[in-house]
Amino acid sequence: MKLNGIDHVGVIGTGMIGTSLGVLLTGHGYRTTLLAVDEIQIAESRKKFDNFYKAMVENQVMTQAQADICRRYLSFTTDYAALTDADCVFEAVVEQLPVKQEVYRRLEEHCPELRLIMSVSSAIQPEKLADGMGRYKDRILVTHPFFPPHLIPYFEIVASPQDTAPGMTDLAKEFLLSLDRKPVVLKKSVPGFLGTRLQFAMAREAVNIVQSGIAEPEDVDMAAMYSFMPRYTKIGIFEHFDNGGLELFAATMKNLFPYLSQEQGIPPIVQEKLDKGELGVRSGKGFRDWRGADLEDLSRRTAEPWWPMIHWDLPAE
Ligand SMILES: NC(=O)c1ccc[n+]([C@@H]2O[C@H](COP(=O)([O-])OP(=O)(O)OC[C@H]3O[C@@H](n4cnc5c(N)ncnc54)[C@H](O)[C@@H]3O)[C@@H](O)[C@H]2O)c1
Repeated sequence: MKLNGIDHVGVIGTGMIGTSLGVLLTGHGYRTTLLAVDEIQIAESRKKFDNFYKAMVENQVMTQAQADICRRYLSFTTDYAALTDADCVFEAVVEQLPVKQEVYRRLEEHCPELRLIMSVSSAIQPEKLADGMGRYKDRILVTHPFFPPHLIPYFEIVASPQDTAPGMTDLAKEFLLSLDRKPVVLKKSVPGFLGTRLQFAMAREAVNIVQSGIAEPEDVDMAAMYSFMPRYTKIGIFEHFDNGGLELFAATMKNLFPYLSQEQGIPPIVQEKLDKGELGVRSGKGFRDWRGADLEDLSRRTAEPWWPMIHWDLPAE
């Protein structure tokens, strides 16, 4: 259900995240304007947007007729004047502080009714985003998604301790709930926020296992996919702790933690691969060999877990 008082939503930046947000917003019947730097970017974003909706129909999340209705809620522009009556905005431009702050200045200039500016920044903390900003510094916060945000429900909301006005995190949370998302509000602003911290804690040990000659990358992947990871789509880490009993977990922590990776920088095995140009799928090889691999199958599997999580309140007209 759409949130009362929010009708027109702007998205600044039409790359991977901005375009995916366009799908999420229009799929809930919000009047959505995507602001791009030029007409070339508009054409590229429109193509991606259409492909995202095509995949939604192919995966039976909605009918073609419903997709056509949703798509009518989208406009593109290169002019901030088209956002004059925007109620809130997602900022989804490149991960560079000066570029993001220039966007906020333009919003202050052109959008007199703006209630909330949500940055999707992966790593810039909200106090840095708001630093030096003008009359809207009290309504800038981070709403960090995982790509693609129209499929992956989780968003983490991070406020600036000294700048964000009371009520802004609640408004962001209510708005994201209206988009069928699963928002979490962090109690403090920290590097890596929450999801990335969890993901990279595991990535550090996965690399360590390979680097120490304990197992091949394929086998680490098997361990993750077929042992404990599927559990965490239905119960959480702490639910699992409590279910197993804390004594058991404490004993394992005591015995195992001294042997886990304490790596503080880029692990040597990763650096070696970078130096050899083994960058992953796009160079044909990374930790695994992608030469001749079925990349369409990889793409299908990448999206597969999220389709059952879509329960959108699609606009009827
Ligand atoms: N890609 C991911 O997996 C991911 C996940 C979570 C968060 N993020 C964050 O999302 C943001 C965007 O990342 P992306 O992956 O979509 O990048 P991208 O390179 O696909 O898109 C960036 C967009 O910003 C636009 N842009 C640059 N300067 C602009 C300006 N002055 N005004 C308007 N638009 C401008 C570019 O034209 C481009 O369309 C970054 O802050 C990134 O950290 C990315």
